[in-house]
Amino acid sequence: MAEQTLSIIKPDGVKKGLTGKIISIFEENGFEIKAIKKVWLTKKQAEGFYYIHKERPFFGSLVDFMTEGPIVPMVLFRENAILKNREIMGATNPKDAAEGTIRKLFAESIERNVVHGSDSLESARFEVAFFFNIFEIL
Ligand code: CMP
Repeated sequence: MAEQTLSIIKPDGVKKGLTGKIISIFEENGFEIKAIKKVWLTKKQAEGFYYIHKERPFFGSLVDFMTEGPIVPMVLFRENAILKNREIMGATNPKDAAEGTIRKLFAESIERNVVHGSDSLESARFEVAFFFNIFEIL
């Protein structure tokens, strides 16, 4: 079934000038970009986005990282978008990521891992609505 997922190019990806390259990878893999913007999150916003991880030991550091510069969230659309996006991103830790995946190609560490992608339909709904309203998703 065709569905939406949220992708974010994180501050490390934006700083390294990887935005265009990563968008091309998504388009080459059959994703339609239904919405896109560039934003710089506040600490409160980053804490809200990652609320599900708030008890994890890396939460503070993750929030610091996600607020160190602008990010590029986008809504991606295709058949099995959530799973396909996770395949293309590769494992959270670039050391475990498959050859040719975005994280294997560009990520430095488990935290500074260049991209985020929704991990379920439920999180995709929350994450898309976190950044975009219905008038911005085309
Ligand atoms: P993401 O897919 O955005 O989901 C949560 C993020 O937390 C993850 O990518 C990493 O950036 C970060 N993360 C996950 N596990 C760890 C960890 N063990 N140590 C540091 N950061 C982590």
